[in-house]
Amino acid sequence: MFPADLKKWHFLESTLQKVFSSYNVDEVRTPLLESTDLFSRSAGSSSDIVNKELYTFLDRNDESISLRPEGSASVIRAVIQKKQENEKHKLWYQGPMFRYERPQKGRFRQFHQVGVEYLGFEEGAPEYELIAMVLQIHQSLGIKNFKFKINHLGNADEKKKFCESLVSFLQPHLPKLHQKDVERLKHNPLRILDSKEKSTQTLLQNAPKYVDFISVESKQLLEDLILTYKDQCDIEIDNSLVRGLDYYTGLVFEVTSNNLGAQDAILGGGRYDLLSEQLGGKSLNAIGFAIGIERIIELINIDNLMDPIKVGFIVYGEQIYKKTYKIANNLRKANKDIVLESYLSGGSLKSQLRRANKNNCNFAVIVGDDEITNDQVVWKDLSEDGQQIFLDVEELITKYTNL
Ligand code: HAM
Repeated sequence: MFPADLKKWHFLESTLQKVFSSYNVDEVRTPLLESTDLFSRSAGSSSDIVNKELYTFLDRNDESISLRPEGSASVIRAVIQKKQENEKHKLWYQGPMFRYERPQKGRFRQFHQVGVEYLGFEEGAPEYELIAMVLQIHQSLGIKNFKFKINHLGNADEKKKFCESLVSFLQPHLPKLHQKDVERLKHNPLRILDSKEKSTQTLLQNAPKYVDFISVESKQLLEDLILTYKDQCDIEIDNSLVRGLDYYTGLVFEVTSNNLGAQDAILGGGRYDLLSEQLGGKSLNAIGFAIGIERIIELINIDNLMDPIKVGFIVYGEQIYKKTYKIANNLRKANKDIVLESYLSGGSLKSQLRRANKNNCNFAVIVGDDEITNDQVVWKDLSEDGQQIFLDVEELITKYTNL
């Protein structure tokens, strides 16, 4: 990532941090390496993430280690390890994740996520708060064109019953199914719902429907969420949304954008109340989401990001560093929003001015021998008219403060 790319990253990071602190969400950092076991027990040993996409190797002690493919399992692992399952946590994290997928536009083997996890809160308020947070994130980043899809996977029992009924419905049709879907049906039947095969999708039209297996309360939650947010975004129930990780029960959601191409998911998340116990911890309610940074960055319009004002600090002639350093220092203190670029390798006035223009400086402060002797500097406008005036240091600081 080069400076031009990182400009957007910094904007994204600072915007998200502001949103998170307005919700009183604290940062957590977990390691890049975890025991492989953590991911096979959380994402599910039959999920693509574990089966095909983990970067796994044996360490010097012959223990199986993996680069993390996602953040939720590590957060839960850390909370269990610190014996904090009885407390409530509102956490966010960011960093690289690794999945051995076929690289394509928007899909990388090392990518970055920003994730949020609410731990210790039952179904209800957190579902509303996290959707509101996602909307606020999009608004703060100036992203308008996106679709919110939600679904409810019921509780563990309901999920299991639905899977069983889906399998027995599709069993007689096995010969008609694509090999990939036969495999899914064997290991991970839910995933068949988002099969891309036309023949499978046709069959599924008459298959049992998830909504018929979840409780009235779960259905009501979906309806209420739609009612609450439909004026603020394009939000709909998508009964085929099951997500690629096994640990979800309850609400699941995804935000997509048709400005992204084939890999159109900006973020995904949901409730995973059973994961803590699955990993050997105490019962712990959990819900969260993770944003794909490379994808959301694509949707930020760089023109919306105001470049800061840039001032070139030009010192030429016999250098009186003690004096010039102090002027530059006071300017930087006076207005922290301005970029003050000093040309450390010196050079003639002409060559430094050329560099200031090349670096898109809006103004230049010029300090030469005469200026130092008279305690004055030149303030030069580097826009087309190129006006310049003499200012004493006090006047310069006032001008700089009020830019
Ligand atoms: P996920 O849907 O696997 O969920 O990933 C979340 C987001 O990461 C995706 O929507 C996408 O934007 C981005 N992403 C995933 N794979 C790649 C890739 N290969 N290249 C670029 N971007 C990618 C999770 O990871 C869950 N841990 C989310 C969660 C948090 N659920 C509850 N809490």
